[in-house]
Order: sequence, then structure tokens, then C-alpha cells
Amino acid sequence: MTPTPLPDPLVIFLPSGKRGRFARGTPVLTAARQLGVDLDSVCGGRGICSRCQVAPATGNFAKHGVTVTADALSPWNAVEERYRAKRGLAHGRRLGCQATVQGDVVIDVPPESQMHRQIVRKSAGDRVMAMDPATRLFVVDVAEPDMHDPSGDFDRLRAALTAQWGVADTLRCDPALLPRLQGVLRKGGWQVAAAVFDDGTEAPRLVGLWPDLPAGGLYGLAIDLGSTTIAAHLCDLTAGSVVASGGVMNPQIRFGEDLMSRVSYAMMNPGGAQEMTAAVRTALDTLVRDLAAEAGIDPALLVEVALVCNPVMHHLLLGIDPVELGQAPFALAQSGALRMAARDLGLGALAPTARAYVLPCIAGHVGADAAAVALAEAPDRSDDLVLVVDVGTNAELLLGDRSRVLACSSPTGPAFEGAQISAGQRAAPGAIERVRIDPATGAARLRVIGSDLWSDDPGFDAGLPGGRITGICGSGIIEAVAEMRMAGLLDASGLIGSPGATGCDRIVPDGRTFSYVLHDGRATGGPLIAVTQGDIRAIQLAKSALYAGARLLMDEFGTQGVDRVVLAGAFGAHISPLHAMVLGMIPDCALDKVRSAGNAAGTGARMALCSRAARRQVETLATRIVKVETAIAPRFQEHFVAANALPHAADPFPLLRAHTPLPDPSFGAAAGGGRRRARGRANTSDTPGGRTQEQA
Ligand code: FES
Repeated sequence: MTPTPLPDPLVIFLPSGKRGRFARGTPVLTAARQLGVDLDSVCGGRGICSRCQVAPATGNFAKHGVTVTADALSPWNAVEERYRAKRGLAHGRRLGCQATVQGDVVIDVPPESQMHRQIVRKSAGDRVMAMDPATRLFVVDVAEPDMHDPSGDFDRLRAALTAQWGVADTLRCDPALLPRLQGVLRKGGWQVAAAVFDDGTEAPRLVGLWPDLPAGGLYGLAIDLGSTTIAAHLCDLTAGSVVASGGVMNPQIRFGEDLMSRVSYAMMNPGGAQEMTAAVRTALDTLVRDLAAEAGIDPALLVEVALVCNPVMHHLLLGIDPVELGQAPFALAQSGALRMAARDLGLGALAPTARAYVLPCIAGHVGADAAAVALAEAPDRSDDLVLVVDVGTNAELLLGDRSRVLACSSPTGPAFEGAQISAGQRAAPGAIERVRIDPATGAARLRVIGSDLWSDDPGFDAGLPGGRITGICGSGIIEAVAEMRMAGLLDASGLIGSPGATGCDRIVPDGRTFSYVLHDGRATGGPLIAVTQGDIRAIQLAKSALYAGARLLMDEFGTQGVDRVVLAGAFGAHISPLHAMVLGMIPDCALDKVRSAGNAAGTGARMALCSRAARRQVETLATRIVKVETAIAPRFQEHFVAANALPHAADPFPLLRAHTPLPDPSFGAAAGGGRRRARGRANTSDTPGGRTQEQA
């Protein structure tokens, strides 16, 4: 009687749970491929790349109905030993292309071995970002030239990539690579590592070739090009991780602080636009060069860059005169996403073959930065109504839910970044970033950037960076003004009360108005840092623009309130939700529904850098988002004026007042020159706010 043949071993992959039976001797990588398990491979099983690492498990797996013995996989082989000796292999790991199936086995695929690994992005709730980069590496064996079968070296390389990796046979060679191609093929002994760019919109392109597999893989840059600052993240295109980050001031500031003054510069000065284009491209290139040097990365491995910027920066970067953006109907030269060679943007610090992707703009005043914020924060996937505010010199606002998303931009000016404030400065060590005022005494406690101590903590003075307090940054001035309002030193119209009216000895006469002294360092050669009436007015103008933009979107959406607010932008991350709401920067909302998202535009740029699917998503989103124009909306002016009061002249802010009762003194002339002592009183009645003109 012939014995019944043993069934083929059962192979179970985790975490996917995919399972199947395979003949003894089948490589784990082959089993994974056949089951559609996401197990990476760059070298095609040659034991060079280690991307196929797996972690086999032994023991009894009741849940899966298998018992795995120590000999379920073939013994450790010479290729694995060579790899371990050369580059190291963690204990318990096997190379999936070398280990073969010998018995029932449970195999864990660690996240770093998954080609489409998911990266959890806490900044956008629980959403995950799947790695799906446009540029990938392949190790390939190329046929040597043959006199009897004449063909070009690139033609044979293309045929090999098609046969061994399924790369489309429409592959082209980037012209910048062609001069080096033959040398690399011969140096590599006809086995080379090839980088292929394929974003799904055009024929794939060969953008890199190495005789040996580059150990660290490929890299790209996600750049957020703002009016004031340029921020860049150097990312690993395999893992999606940020390897190095850096930022510089936008050198175009010397042509104008805000966007419209740069448009004017271009209009008034022949060659002005070209001058600004050259300035920003040089700054970008230097930033990339410095980041690569800091991270020790060969520029030849920097193969992609994704850029986000507002419409004016977008045009100036691309070498387009922004004049049309300065006048209605604010037409963009092109609103869709752009794909080009990075060198066409003057970026010589990357590989000469590197590709650039510029995210799409939404409309004339709502740029690729807003599209990137939408990609990162996904208001279009929100079940509740969310307002996303990207606070900067120019604020971008998005309001929406699954039904639709509206967007606008609002010219807040640079006050929120500490500019136009008497003692204002950029967020840097030594700047006041946190303020608390005691309503009973009017005394202030401070915290500065670079120190974890409050000013009334022991050791505060000794721990000051640079030995002194230097000024106040954006989040500091927001807290200072809001705390003054909460302590009754400032009325709803924005007027600072006199020392007599407030009983506060920190308030001092300042011309025909008053100032509140936050810190007096003059005795030790430091500065006097006070909040002046002019500072309050600058903050009122900025916050009115922000709030008016939000109200305009709410009108358009047909809503009186929002369910939650996301504060985005590098600066947004540092704003205290309570203080922002006391100022009326954002609409009334439960405080626990206000969240900071950090630099969401930069996150969106990273997503687009790492994923072709994210590019498709942002391109669809940009066409779906409805732009609301603030510049020509009559209601914007109305909302702007009403928003001048703190928190607002007409909107009662019941949720805020239930959480933090606001005293409502009145220090205007009509109230008797501010003779009433009002500090510390809580009053939930609405005080009509003074208009801007009344506060000279
Ligand atoms: S596939 Fe490259 S080492 Fe296994």
C-alpha cells in the first residue's frame, strides 16, 4: 500500500493573516508574492538588499491551528551569513529570499519589510499614510553586449528591468544620466542598481544607476515655501522618515514683507520678478545643500522634491511674473499640479536627474499650501464640521465636512509672528512665549523660549538663554493681550485702562494712551518689554482679518458655528486655544475641540513626496474645494469691523464665557475716562466693542 503523501506545508503570514500551502523548498519571498503579501524586495532575491527580512515564529498557534517547529524553515545559509557579516541582521530575522519552507510556519513581516508600509500620522487623527513613492530602486542583471545581436546598453537595461521587475517597456533614460550609463554598467559587472521614476502620469524614467546598491536607499525633500520662512524636510523614500529638517528666512523679505508688496515690487521694477525668483531659488538650493551635508547624504541620492507654497510664491518660484495675482480676477498662470526636472527650478543641490512635484493651487489667493493642509487634515473626510486655520503672514482657512469644503485666505499681516509689535521678535531663545497675569494683583508671570521655568520659579534668571529676556514672540503677544483682557486691564474695545481705573501699577502712561509693562530689564542693561496700545491695535487688525475670513466661510456654508477647530502652521502649534479664543481669533467652540496640528502644509508636502496616491488625492481635492474670495466680498468688511472687539462685538461666545468668565469694563471716554475699577470682575453680559477708528 502506497503511503498517503504528506500535505504541502501551510504558510501563514502576519499581520495580514494571508495563508496558503506551498511545496517544500519554496522561498518565503516566492510564497509571499503568490499570496499577495506586501514583502519588499529591491534586489530580486539576490541576498543584497535585505528588504525581504522576515521573523519566523515557533510554537503552538492555536488560533491558526498550527504548530511550528524549529526546522520549519531551511537552515541559515551562506548568503544570509555573508549579509549578516557585512551589514548585520537582527537576531531572529531571516532573509525571505533565502529561507525556504520546510514545514508549517507562521511568518511575521515587520513594518520595515513592507513595501507599502503604513505610517501613522498623529497630526491628522488616526489616518495613516501609505508609502507609495514614485521613485524606486531595483537591482537588475543586464545582458552583456553582443556583436551578433547589436543593441544599445540602455536598450538591454530596459529589457532587463521589464523582464525582471515588470517596469513598462516605455522606460526612457534621463538625458543627464546617459553619459554615465555605460561606465556604471561595466563597473557593476552588468549587475547594477537602477532608480526608476514612475508617477503614473508619463512613461517611466531611469533617474539613477549605481554599480552597487546604495546602502541608505533614496531620499527626497518636502519643502514648505512660505512668505516669511522656508522649511524643508529631508526624507527617506523607503521608510518615509524625516532624516533632517531645516529652515531659512525667505530672502524675498527684502523686496516686501507681505505678498502684495512683492507683487508691487514686480510691477514697479523692471526685472523685479526675476530678481525675486533668483533670490528664492538660491536660498532653496543652499538649504537643500546644507541639509544633505548635515545628514551626510550623497546629493546623487536626492531624487525627488515636493513643494508647497502660496500662489505668489508659487509663481515667483516658477519664474512667472505674479502681476495677475495682484488684481481681480486674480488669475493663476496654472492651478494644476506641476511636474518637472528639479534643475528647471534651479535646484542644483539634488541629483541632476531629480524630479520636482509642485502641489496644485486651489485658486488665485488660495495656494498649494492650503491644498497641502487639506491633504494633511482631510476636512473632506470629516464627519463633523471642521475649521482648519493655517496661521501665518497670510492665513489660509478651510471649512468643511464630507459634504463639501470651502477655502479662503486672509491677509493677517505679520503681527502674529511678532512683527509690528513694539517689543516683538521672531520665535527664538530669549523671546517671551507664555504669559499669565494675576487678576487680583495685575502681576505677570512669564516663560521664555529656551527655558522650562516660569519667571517666579527659583533659578529662572540664571537659566535664561543668553542671560536675558530679549522680546516677545507671536504666541507671547497673543497670551499677553488675552491675559490682559481676562484680568480686566483691557476692555472689549481693546482699550488699556489707566492705572487709576485698573488699580494696576504695571500700567504706565505712554503718550495719550497706556502701556502694560511685562518685563523691565533696564536696570541690568536689558530691554523694557511692554504691551502698548499700538500693539493691541496690531493684534486686533490681524485677528479681525482671521475671524472675518472664518465668518465668511461660515456664511457661505450656511452655519452659525463649527464643531471643531484645527490650528495649523508652525506658529499655530504654539498658540494656546484658550487665549486665541479670548482674543476672538477663532469662532466660539468647546475648548477641547480646538487642536494644534503643527506644520500641516509641511506634512502635506511629505505625504505628496512619499506617495503617488496622495498626489492623486490632493489633485482631486484641489478641484473639489470651493474658493471664497475675501478681497471682493462686501461682508468681509462687515465681519472685519465687528471682529475688532475682544472677543467680538456681536457674537456672544457662550462656550468661551461658560469656561472663562470675562470681566467687561469700559475704559473709553464715554465711560468717564476709565475711572471705574473693574479688574477681576466677571460679567457675562456683552459689551459693545469699540471700532478700530475709536481707538486711536
Ligand atoms: S530580496 Fe533582497 S535580500 Fe532578499
